[in-house]
Amino acid sequence: MTKNTVTITDNATGKQVELPVVEGTMGASAIDVRSLNKELGLFTYDPGFQSTASCQSAITYIDGDKGVLLYRGYPIEQLAAHSSYLEVCYLLVYGELPSPKQLEEFQAVILSHTMLHEGLRRFYGGFRHDAHPMAIMVGIVGALSAFYHDSTDVTDPSHREVSAHRLIAKMPTIAAASYKYSIGQPFIYPDNNLGYVENYLRMMFAVPTSAYEINPLFVKAMELILILHADHEQNASTSTVRLSSSSGTNPFASIAAGIACLWGPAHGGANESVIRMLDEIESPAEIPKYIARAKDKNDPFRLMGFGHRIYKNYDPRAKIIRQMCHDLLKELGSENQPQFETALELERIALEDDYFVAKKLYPNVDFYSGLILRAMGIPLNTFTVIFAMARTVGWIAQWMEMMDDPEQKIGRPRQVYTGNLPRDYPGAKKKK
Ligand code: SDX
Repeated sequence: MTKNTVTITDNATGKQVELPVVEGTMGASAIDVRSLNKELGLFTYDPGFQSTASCQSAITYIDGDKGVLLYRGYPIEQLAAHSSYLEVCYLLVYGELPSPKQLEEFQAVILSHTMLHEGLRRFYGGFRHDAHPMAIMVGIVGALSAFYHDSTDVTDPSHREVSAHRLIAKMPTIAAASYKYSIGQPFIYPDNNLGYVENYLRMMFAVPTSAYEINPLFVKAMELILILHADHEQNASTSTVRLSSSSGTNPFASIAAGIACLWGPAHGGANESVIRMLDEIESPAEIPKYIARAKDKNDPFRLMGFGHRIYKNYDPRAKIIRQMCHDLLKELGSENQPQFETALELERIALEDDYFVAKKLYPNVDFYSGLILRAMGIPLNTFTVIFAMARTVGWIAQWMEMMDDPEQKIGRPRQVYTGNLPRDYPGAKKKK
Protein backbone atom coordinates (compact mmCIF):
# COMPACT_ATOMS: atom_id res chain seq x y z
CA MET A 1 0.00 0.00 0.00
CA THR A 2 1.30 3.55 -0.61
CA LYS A 3 0.42 6.97 0.79
CA ASN A 4 -1.00 7.77 -2.65
CA THR A 5 -4.77 7.95 -2.98
CA VAL A 6 -7.38 8.80 -5.61
CA THR A 7 -10.65 10.60 -4.97
CA ILE A 8 -13.80 9.51 -6.75
CA THR A 9 -16.80 11.80 -6.91
CA ASP A 10 -20.26 10.53 -7.77
CA ASN A 11 -21.53 13.51 -9.73
CA ALA A 12 -25.10 12.22 -9.40
CA THR A 13 -25.00 12.63 -5.64
CA GLY A 14 -21.93 14.82 -5.07
CA LYS A 15 -20.68 12.14 -2.65
CA GLN A 16 -16.90 11.61 -2.66
CA VAL A 17 -14.62 8.82 -1.50
CA GLU A 18 -10.85 8.81 -1.14
CA LEU A 19 -9.40 5.42 -2.07
CA PRO A 20 -5.88 4.11 -1.35
CA VAL A 21 -3.53 3.13 -4.18
CA VAL A 22 -1.80 -0.26 -4.01
CA GLU A 23 1.72 -0.04 -5.44
CA GLY A 24 3.90 -3.02 -6.42
CA THR A 25 7.65 -3.29 -7.01
CA MET A 26 7.21 -2.76 -10.78
CA GLY A 27 4.41 -2.04 -13.23
CA ALA A 28 1.03 -0.40 -12.78
CA SER A 29 -0.38 0.44 -9.36
CA ALA A 30 -4.03 -0.24 -8.55
CA ILE A 31 -6.86 1.62 -6.88
CA ASP A 32 -8.11 -0.38 -3.89
CA VAL A 33 -11.88 -0.22 -4.57
CA ARG A 34 -12.96 -2.60 -1.81
CA SER A 35 -14.79 0.17 0.07
CA LEU A 36 -16.36 1.74 -3.04
CA ASN A 37 -19.71 -0.05 -2.77
CA LYS A 38 -20.04 0.71 0.97
CA GLU A 39 -19.05 4.38 0.50
CA LEU A 40 -20.82 5.24 -2.77
CA GLY A 41 -23.13 2.30 -3.40
CA LEU A 42 -21.38 1.77 -6.72
CA PHE A 43 -19.52 -1.17 -8.32
CA THR A 44 -16.67 -1.01 -10.81
CA TYR A 45 -17.58 -2.37 -14.27
CA ASP A 46 -14.84 -4.12 -16.25
CA PRO A 47 -15.97 -6.96 -18.62
CA GLY A 48 -12.92 -9.14 -19.43
CA PHE A 49 -11.05 -7.49 -16.52
CA GLN A 50 -9.05 -5.22 -18.84
CA SER A 51 -8.31 -2.74 -16.03
CA THR A 52 -8.67 -4.97 -12.99
CA ALA A 53 -5.96 -6.44 -10.75
CA SER A 54 -7.42 -9.53 -9.07
CA CYS A 55 -4.55 -10.03 -6.63
CA GLN A 56 -1.06 -9.06 -5.63
CA SER A 57 1.49 -11.57 -6.93
CA ALA A 58 5.27 -11.96 -6.81
CA ILE A 59 5.54 -14.80 -9.32
CA THR A 60 5.52 -13.43 -12.89
CA TYR A 61 5.91 -9.93 -14.29
CA ILE A 62 4.90 -8.88 -17.79
CA ASP A 63 5.53 -5.52 -19.44
CA GLY A 64 3.30 -5.70 -22.52
CA ASP A 65 4.64 -2.50 -24.08
CA LYS A 66 8.28 -3.51 -23.79
CA GLY A 67 7.71 -7.23 -24.44
CA VAL A 68 9.21 -8.22 -21.07
CA LEU A 69 8.46 -11.47 -19.21
CA LEU A 70 10.13 -12.31 -15.86
CA TYR A 71 9.67 -15.43 -13.72
CA ARG A 72 10.49 -14.40 -10.14
CA GLY A 73 12.55 -11.54 -11.63
CA TYR A 74 14.58 -13.65 -14.07
CA PRO A 75 14.16 -12.71 -17.79
CA ILE A 76 12.50 -15.45 -19.84
CA GLU A 77 15.31 -15.18 -22.41
CA GLN A 78 17.92 -16.15 -19.79
CA LEU A 79 15.83 -18.98 -18.36
CA ALA A 80 15.19 -20.28 -21.89
CA ALA A 81 18.91 -20.24 -22.63
CA HIS A 82 20.29 -21.62 -19.35
CA SER A 83 17.62 -23.31 -17.23
CA SER A 84 15.61 -26.54 -17.31
CA TYR A 85 11.87 -27.02 -16.89
CA LEU A 86 12.23 -28.66 -13.47
CA GLU A 87 14.54 -25.87 -12.30
CA VAL A 88 11.91 -23.35 -13.49
CA CYS A 89 9.24 -25.37 -11.62
CA TYR A 90 11.29 -25.06 -8.43
CA LEU A 91 11.80 -21.31 -9.05
CA LEU A 92 8.10 -20.63 -9.65
CA VAL A 93 6.92 -22.68 -6.67
CA TYR A 94 9.59 -21.77 -4.10
CA GLY A 95 10.61 -18.31 -5.34
CA GLU A 96 14.36 -18.87 -5.72
CA LEU A 97 16.59 -20.88 -8.04
CA PRO A 98 17.53 -24.18 -6.36
CA SER A 99 21.07 -25.11 -5.38
CA PRO A 100 22.35 -28.19 -7.26
CA LYS A 101 21.50 -30.28 -4.18
CA GLN A 102 18.01 -28.78 -3.87
CA LEU A 103 17.38 -29.43 -7.59
CA GLU A 104 18.56 -33.03 -7.23
CA GLU A 105 16.24 -33.57 -4.24
CA PHE A 106 13.34 -31.87 -6.05
CA GLN A 107 13.87 -34.04 -9.13
CA ALA A 108 13.90 -37.16 -6.92
CA VAL A 109 10.63 -36.14 -5.26
CA ILE A 110 8.97 -35.45 -8.60
CA LEU A 111 10.18 -38.76 -10.04
CA SER A 112 8.66 -40.57 -7.05
CA HIS A 113 5.20 -39.43 -8.12
CA THR A 114 5.20 -40.11 -11.88
CA MET A 115 3.01 -43.24 -11.81
CA LEU A 116 -0.80 -43.19 -11.90
CA HIS A 117 -3.03 -45.27 -9.64
CA GLU A 118 -3.98 -48.37 -11.65
CA GLY A 119 -7.63 -47.60 -10.96
CA LEU A 120 -7.19 -44.22 -12.64
CA ARG A 121 -5.66 -45.81 -15.72
CA ARG A 122 -8.92 -47.73 -16.14
CA PHE A 123 -10.82 -44.42 -16.37
CA TYR A 124 -9.37 -43.93 -19.85
CA GLY A 125 -11.38 -46.91 -21.10
CA GLY A 126 -14.59 -44.97 -20.51
CA PHE A 127 -13.75 -42.39 -23.18
CA ARG A 128 -14.58 -42.78 -26.88
CA HIS A 129 -11.37 -43.64 -28.71
CA ASP A 130 -11.66 -40.40 -30.71
CA ALA A 131 -12.21 -38.17 -27.67
CA HIS A 132 -10.17 -34.96 -27.80
CA PRO A 133 -7.16 -35.43 -25.48
CA MET A 134 -8.06 -32.17 -23.71
CA ALA A 135 -11.46 -33.67 -22.80
CA ILE A 136 -9.61 -36.67 -21.37
CA MET A 137 -7.19 -34.41 -19.46
CA VAL A 138 -10.05 -32.49 -17.83
CA GLY A 139 -11.67 -35.76 -16.75
CA ILE A 140 -8.57 -37.59 -15.54
CA VAL A 141 -7.04 -34.63 -13.67
CA GLY A 142 -10.36 -33.90 -11.97
CA ALA A 143 -10.59 -37.58 -11.02
CA LEU A 144 -7.21 -37.40 -9.23
CA SER A 145 -9.16 -35.90 -6.30
CA ALA A 146 -10.92 -39.27 -6.00
CA PHE A 147 -7.58 -41.00 -5.40
CA TYR A 148 -5.57 -38.69 -3.17
CA HIS A 149 -7.69 -38.15 -0.06
CA ASP A 150 -4.42 -37.99 1.89
CA SER A 151 -3.56 -34.59 0.43
CA THR A 152 -6.76 -32.63 -0.14
CA ASP A 153 -6.75 -30.59 3.09
CA VAL A 154 -5.88 -27.30 1.37
CA THR A 155 -5.37 -25.58 4.74
CA ASP A 156 -2.40 -27.88 5.41
CA PRO A 157 0.81 -26.58 3.74
CA SER A 158 2.24 -30.11 3.60
CA HIS A 159 -0.87 -31.31 1.74
CA ARG A 160 -0.52 -28.37 -0.66
CA GLU A 161 3.11 -29.23 -1.32
CA VAL A 162 2.53 -32.94 -1.96
CA SER A 163 -0.40 -32.09 -4.26
CA ALA A 164 1.89 -29.72 -6.14
CA HIS A 165 4.52 -32.43 -6.53
CA ARG A 166 1.91 -34.99 -7.61
CA LEU A 167 0.42 -32.70 -10.27
CA ILE A 168 3.79 -31.64 -11.72
CA ALA A 169 4.92 -35.28 -11.77
CA LYS A 170 1.77 -36.88 -13.14
CA MET A 171 0.84 -34.48 -15.93
CA PRO A 172 3.32 -36.00 -18.45
CA THR A 173 2.07 -39.52 -17.61
CA ILE A 174 -1.58 -38.42 -17.94
CA ALA A 175 -0.84 -36.48 -21.14
CA ALA A 176 1.06 -39.33 -22.78
CA ALA A 177 -1.62 -41.84 -21.78
CA SER A 178 -4.30 -39.58 -23.31
CA TYR A 179 -2.40 -39.74 -26.61
CA LYS A 180 -1.72 -43.50 -26.42
CA TYR A 181 -5.41 -44.13 -25.70
CA SER A 182 -6.45 -42.07 -28.73
CA ILE A 183 -4.27 -44.20 -31.05
CA GLY A 184 -5.10 -47.53 -29.41
CA GLN A 185 -1.55 -48.24 -28.28
CA PRO A 186 -0.64 -49.60 -24.83
CA PHE A 187 0.28 -47.05 -22.17
CA ILE A 188 4.01 -46.80 -21.45
CA TYR A 189 4.95 -46.64 -17.78
CA PRO A 190 7.30 -43.83 -16.71
CA ASP A 191 10.99 -44.76 -16.51
CA ASN A 192 12.44 -42.89 -13.55
CA ASN A 193 15.96 -43.31 -14.84
CA LEU A 194 15.09 -40.64 -17.40
CA GLY A 195 14.72 -36.89 -17.01
CA TYR A 196 11.33 -35.20 -16.96
CA VAL A 197 11.18 -34.39 -20.67
CA GLU A 198 12.86 -37.60 -21.83
CA ASN A 199 10.31 -39.54 -19.77
CA TYR A 200 7.43 -37.71 -21.45
CA LEU A 201 8.72 -38.26 -24.98
CA ARG A 202 9.32 -41.94 -24.27
CA MET A 203 5.81 -42.39 -22.80
CA MET A 204 4.44 -40.65 -25.90
CA PHE A 205 6.31 -42.49 -28.63
CA ALA A 206 7.81 -45.73 -27.28
CA VAL A 207 6.10 -49.08 -27.97
CA PRO A 208 6.68 -52.28 -25.94
CA THR A 209 7.96 -54.10 -29.01
CA SER A 210 11.14 -52.12 -29.58
CA ALA A 211 13.68 -49.85 -27.87
CA TYR A 212 12.95 -46.13 -28.11
CA GLU A 213 15.80 -43.80 -29.00
CA ILE A 214 15.43 -40.34 -27.52
CA ASN A 215 16.28 -37.51 -29.94
CA PRO A 216 18.27 -34.90 -27.95
CA LEU A 217 17.08 -32.21 -30.35
CA PHE A 218 13.46 -32.98 -29.49
CA VAL A 219 14.32 -32.97 -25.78
CA LYS A 220 15.88 -29.50 -26.15
CA ALA A 221 12.89 -28.20 -28.10
CA MET A 222 10.34 -29.66 -25.66
CA GLU A 223 12.29 -28.35 -22.64
CA LEU A 224 12.11 -24.88 -24.20
CA ILE A 225 8.39 -25.15 -24.99
CA LEU A 226 7.67 -26.17 -21.38
CA ILE A 227 9.80 -23.34 -19.90
CA LEU A 228 8.15 -20.70 -22.11
CA HIS A 229 4.62 -21.86 -21.26
CA ALA A 230 5.16 -22.38 -17.51
CA ASP A 231 3.46 -19.25 -16.18
CA HIS A 232 2.02 -15.98 -17.41
CA GLU A 233 0.57 -13.87 -14.59
CA GLN A 234 -3.24 -13.73 -14.27
CA ASN A 235 -4.28 -15.14 -17.68
CA ALA A 236 -7.75 -16.67 -18.11
CA SER A 237 -6.87 -20.21 -17.02
CA THR A 238 -4.79 -19.06 -14.04
CA SER A 239 -7.63 -16.78 -12.98
CA THR A 240 -9.95 -19.78 -13.32
CA VAL A 241 -7.71 -21.81 -11.01
CA ARG A 242 -7.55 -18.96 -8.49
CA LEU A 243 -11.31 -18.35 -8.56
CA SER A 244 -12.24 -22.03 -8.25
CA SER A 245 -9.66 -22.58 -5.50
CA SER A 246 -10.94 -19.55 -3.59
CA SER A 247 -13.92 -21.67 -2.48
CA GLY A 248 -11.47 -24.03 -0.75
CA THR A 249 -11.85 -26.85 -3.25
CA ASN A 250 -8.93 -29.24 -3.78
CA PRO A 251 -6.18 -28.41 -6.30
CA PHE A 252 -6.94 -31.39 -8.56
CA ALA A 253 -10.46 -30.08 -9.17
CA SER A 254 -9.34 -26.48 -9.73
CA ILE A 255 -6.46 -27.48 -12.05
CA ALA A 256 -9.03 -29.45 -14.06
CA ALA A 257 -11.03 -26.21 -14.31
CA GLY A 258 -7.89 -24.43 -15.52
CA ILE A 259 -7.37 -27.09 -18.20
CA ALA A 260 -10.96 -26.62 -19.34
CA CYS A 261 -10.42 -22.86 -19.68
CA LEU A 262 -7.07 -23.23 -21.44
CA TRP A 263 -8.71 -25.42 -24.10
CA GLY A 264 -10.49 -22.44 -25.69
CA PRO A 265 -9.14 -21.20 -29.08
CA ALA A 266 -8.78 -17.66 -27.72
CA HIS A 267 -6.36 -19.01 -25.09
CA GLY A 268 -4.27 -22.18 -25.11
CA GLY A 269 -6.25 -23.78 -27.91
CA ALA A 270 -4.76 -21.19 -30.28
CA ASN A 271 -1.65 -23.32 -30.98
CA GLU A 272 -3.87 -25.98 -32.55
CA SER A 273 -5.93 -23.31 -34.40
CA VAL A 274 -2.76 -21.74 -35.86
CA ILE A 275 -1.80 -24.99 -37.58
CA ARG A 276 -5.34 -25.50 -38.86
CA MET A 277 -5.18 -21.93 -40.22
CA LEU A 278 -1.77 -22.52 -41.86
CA ASP A 279 -3.08 -25.79 -43.35
CA GLU A 280 -6.02 -23.86 -44.80
CA ILE A 281 -3.71 -21.20 -46.34
CA GLU A 282 -2.56 -23.39 -49.19
CA SER A 283 0.22 -21.08 -50.32
CA PRO A 284 1.77 -17.71 -49.43
CA ALA A 285 -0.11 -16.28 -52.42
CA GLU A 286 -3.35 -16.81 -50.45
CA ILE A 287 -2.16 -14.77 -47.45
CA PRO A 288 -3.65 -11.38 -48.51
CA LYS A 289 -7.10 -13.03 -48.64
CA TYR A 290 -6.76 -14.19 -45.02
CA ILE A 291 -5.37 -10.85 -43.86
CA ALA A 292 -8.43 -9.20 -45.42
CA ARG A 293 -10.74 -11.65 -43.63
CA ALA A 294 -8.99 -10.98 -40.30
CA LYS A 295 -9.66 -7.25 -40.79
CA ASP A 296 -13.29 -7.69 -41.86
CA LYS A 297 -15.57 -6.90 -38.92
CA ASN A 298 -18.28 -9.03 -40.48
CA ASP A 299 -16.02 -12.06 -40.67
CA PRO A 300 -15.47 -13.96 -37.38
CA PHE A 301 -12.09 -15.16 -38.72
CA ARG A 302 -9.12 -13.97 -36.69
CA LEU A 303 -5.44 -14.43 -37.41
CA MET A 304 -4.76 -17.18 -34.87
CA GLY A 305 -1.52 -16.75 -32.98
CA PHE A 306 -1.75 -12.98 -33.35
CA GLY A 307 -2.73 -10.42 -30.75
CA HIS A 308 -2.61 -10.47 -26.99
CA ARG A 309 -4.45 -8.78 -24.15
CA ILE A 310 -1.19 -7.55 -22.62
CA TYR A 311 1.58 -7.72 -25.23
CA LYS A 312 1.28 -4.66 -27.46
CA ASN A 313 4.75 -5.50 -28.66
CA TYR A 314 6.29 -8.78 -29.75
CA ASP A 315 5.54 -11.62 -27.27
CA PRO A 316 9.10 -12.40 -26.08
CA ARG A 317 8.21 -16.10 -26.09
CA ALA A 318 7.26 -15.95 -29.77
CA LYS A 319 10.70 -14.56 -30.65
CA ILE A 320 12.45 -17.39 -28.80
CA ILE A 321 10.17 -20.08 -30.25
CA ARG A 322 10.57 -18.72 -33.79
CA GLN A 323 14.35 -19.12 -33.53
CA MET A 324 14.00 -22.63 -32.05
CA CYS A 325 11.55 -23.49 -34.83
CA HIS A 326 14.03 -22.36 -37.47
CA ASP A 327 16.93 -24.25 -35.85
CA LEU A 328 14.88 -27.44 -35.39
CA LEU A 329 13.55 -27.47 -38.94
CA LYS A 330 17.08 -26.80 -40.23
CA GLU A 331 18.48 -29.69 -38.15
CA LEU A 332 15.70 -31.90 -39.48
CA GLY A 333 16.58 -30.81 -42.99
CA SER A 334 13.16 -29.27 -43.55
CA GLU A 335 13.94 -25.59 -43.04
CA ASN A 336 11.85 -24.80 -46.09
CA GLN A 337 8.90 -26.64 -44.55
CA PRO A 338 5.96 -25.03 -46.43
CA GLN A 339 4.01 -24.11 -43.29
CA PHE A 340 7.03 -22.41 -41.75
CA GLU A 341 7.52 -20.43 -44.94
CA THR A 342 3.83 -19.48 -44.90
CA ALA A 343 4.07 -18.50 -41.21
CA LEU A 344 7.13 -16.29 -41.83
CA GLU A 345 5.43 -14.61 -44.80
CA LEU A 346 2.15 -14.20 -42.89
CA GLU A 347 4.07 -12.57 -40.04
CA ARG A 348 5.96 -10.28 -42.43
CA ILE A 349 2.82 -9.10 -44.22
CA ALA A 350 0.77 -8.67 -41.02
CA LEU A 351 3.50 -6.65 -39.33
CA GLU A 352 3.52 -4.24 -42.27
CA ASP A 353 -0.26 -3.93 -42.43
CA ASP A 354 -1.76 -0.73 -40.97
CA TYR A 355 -4.60 -2.63 -39.25
CA PHE A 356 -2.25 -4.87 -37.28
CA VAL A 357 0.21 -2.05 -36.63
CA ALA A 358 -2.55 0.30 -35.40
CA LYS A 359 -4.04 -2.38 -33.11
CA LYS A 360 -0.56 -3.51 -32.00
CA LEU A 361 -1.23 -7.09 -32.98
CA TYR A 362 1.96 -9.13 -32.91
CA PRO A 363 2.61 -12.89 -33.03
CA ASN A 364 2.09 -14.47 -29.61
CA VAL A 365 3.51 -17.63 -28.06
CA ASP A 366 1.09 -19.82 -30.02
CA PHE A 367 2.06 -18.63 -33.49
CA TYR A 368 5.18 -20.77 -33.89
CA SER A 369 4.86 -23.36 -31.12
CA GLY A 370 2.62 -25.60 -33.20
CA LEU A 371 5.22 -25.81 -35.96
CA ILE A 372 7.81 -27.13 -33.51
CA LEU A 373 5.36 -29.65 -32.04
CA ARG A 374 4.32 -30.85 -35.48
CA ALA A 375 7.99 -31.22 -36.50
CA MET A 376 8.42 -33.45 -33.44
CA GLY A 377 5.55 -35.70 -34.53
CA ILE A 378 3.19 -34.46 -31.83
CA PRO A 379 -0.40 -34.78 -33.11
CA LEU A 380 -2.39 -31.57 -33.56
CA ASN A 381 -5.00 -32.40 -30.91
CA THR A 382 -2.21 -32.83 -28.32
CA PHE A 383 -0.68 -29.34 -28.72
CA THR A 384 -2.86 -27.76 -26.03
CA VAL A 385 -2.28 -30.80 -23.80
CA ILE A 386 1.41 -29.87 -23.81
CA PHE A 387 0.52 -26.27 -22.99
CA ALA A 388 -1.55 -27.59 -20.04
CA MET A 389 1.34 -29.84 -18.96
CA ALA A 390 3.71 -26.85 -18.97
CA ARG A 391 1.28 -24.44 -17.31
CA THR A 392 0.42 -26.81 -14.45
CA VAL A 393 3.38 -25.49 -12.43
CA GLY A 394 2.21 -21.91 -13.01
CA TRP A 395 -1.32 -22.74 -11.89
CA ILE A 396 0.11 -24.54 -8.84
CA ALA A 397 2.47 -21.69 -7.91
CA GLN A 398 -0.33 -19.12 -8.22
CA TRP A 399 -2.67 -21.36 -6.17
CA MET A 400 -0.08 -21.78 -3.39
CA GLU A 401 0.54 -18.02 -3.35
CA MET A 402 -3.20 -17.37 -3.09
CA MET A 403 -3.61 -19.90 -0.26
CA ASP A 404 -0.85 -18.09 1.67
CA ASP A 405 -2.35 -14.64 0.96
CA PRO A 406 -3.97 -13.23 4.14
CA GLU A 407 -6.16 -11.03 1.94
CA GLN A 408 -7.58 -13.90 -0.09
CA LYS A 409 -11.36 -14.39 0.13
CA ILE A 410 -13.80 -16.40 -1.93
CA GLY A 411 -14.08 -14.69 -5.32
CA ARG A 412 -17.61 -13.39 -5.76
CA PRO A 413 -17.97 -10.63 -8.42
CA ARG A 414 -21.15 -8.52 -8.60
CA GLN A 415 -23.11 -7.31 -11.67
CA VAL A 416 -25.09 -4.46 -13.17
CA TYR A 417 -28.63 -5.88 -13.34
CA THR A 418 -30.42 -5.16 -16.61
CA GLY A 419 -33.39 -7.50 -16.22
CA ASN A 420 -37.09 -7.04 -15.52
CA LEU A 421 -38.41 -4.78 -12.76
CA PRO A 422 -40.39 -6.68 -10.04
CA ARG A 423 -43.67 -8.14 -11.41
CA ASP A 424 -46.30 -10.60 -10.09
CA TYR A 425 -47.00 -14.11 -11.27
CA PRO A 426 -50.45 -14.20 -12.95
CA GLY A 427 -53.10 -14.79 -10.21
CA ALA A 428 -50.58 -14.67 -7.37
CA LYS A 429 -51.75 -12.72 -4.29
CA LYS A 430 -49.77 -9.48 -3.92
CA LYS A 431 -47.60 -9.33 -0.77
CA LYS A 432 -49.17 -6.74 1.64
C1 SDX B 1 -2.60 -17.08 -24.96
O1 SDX B 1 -3.52 -13.93 -21.27
C2 SDX B 1 -2.44 -14.60 -21.50
O2 SDX B 1 -1.38 -14.35 -20.98
C3 SDX B 1 -2.62 -15.77 -22.47
C4 SDX B 1 -1.35 -16.51 -22.88
C5 SDX B 1 -0.74 -17.26 -21.71
O3 SDX B 1 0.46 -17.55 -21.77
O4 SDX B 1 -1.52 -17.64 -20.80
O5 SDX B 1 -0.39 -15.58 -23.37
C6 SDX B 1 -1.63 -17.55 -23.94
O6 SDX B 1 -3.77 -17.31 -24.78
C7 SDX B 1 -2.11 -16.28 -26.14
C8 SDX B 1 -3.29 -15.79 -27.05
C9 SDX B 1 -3.66 -16.92 -28.01
N1 SDX B 1 -4.89 -16.57 -28.74
C10 SDX B 1 -4.87 -16.31 -30.07
O7 SDX B 1 -3.84 -16.25 -30.74
C11 SDX B 1 -6.24 -16.11 -30.69
C12 SDX B 1 -6.22 -14.89 -31.63
N2 SDX B 1 -6.07 -13.69 -30.80
C13 SDX B 1 -7.27 -13.02 -30.38
O8 SDX B 1 -8.43 -13.73 -30.30
C14 SDX B 1 -7.05 -11.90 -29.37
O9 SDX B 1 -5.97 -11.16 -29.80
C15 SDX B 1 -6.86 -12.27 -27.93
C16 SDX B 1 -7.97 -13.11 -27.42
C17 SDX B 1 -5.57 -12.97 -27.73
C18 SDX B 1 -6.82 -10.97 -27.12
O10 SDX B 1 -8.07 -10.43 -27.19
P1 SDX B 1 -8.44 -9.03 -26.45
O11 SDX B 1 -7.34 -8.56 -25.61
O12 SDX B 1 -9.77 -9.20 -25.83
O13 SDX B 1 -8.48 -8.02 -27.62
P2 SDX B 1 -9.75 -7.77 -28.52
O14 SDX B 1 -10.39 -9.06 -28.88
O15 SDX B 1 -10.58 -6.72 -27.86
O16 SDX B 1 -9.05 -7.17 -29.84
C19 SDX B 1 -8.72 -5.80 -29.91
C20 SDX B 1 -8.91 -5.46 -31.38
C21 SDX B 1 -10.30 -5.89 -31.88
O17 SDX B 1 -10.64 -5.00 -32.94
P3 SDX B 1 -11.68 -3.76 -32.57
O18 SDX B 1 -12.94 -4.40 -32.04
O19 SDX B 1 -10.97 -2.93 -31.54
O20 SDX B 1 -11.88 -3.07 -33.90
O21 SDX B 1 -7.98 -6.20 -32.18
C22 SDX B 1 -8.67 -7.10 -33.04
C23 SDX B 1 -10.08 -7.25 -32.49
O22 SDX B 1 -10.99 -7.52 -33.54
N3 SDX B 1 -7.96 -8.37 -32.97
C24 SDX B 1 -7.71 -9.15 -34.03
C25 SDX B 1 -6.97 -10.23 -33.52
N4 SDX B 1 -6.81 -10.08 -32.19
C26 SDX B 1 -7.42 -8.92 -31.86
N5 SDX B 1 -8.03 -9.03 -35.33
C27 SDX B 1 -7.61 -10.03 -36.14
N6 SDX B 1 -6.89 -11.10 -35.73
C28 SDX B 1 -6.55 -11.24 -34.43
N7 SDX B 1 -5.85 -12.29 -34.01
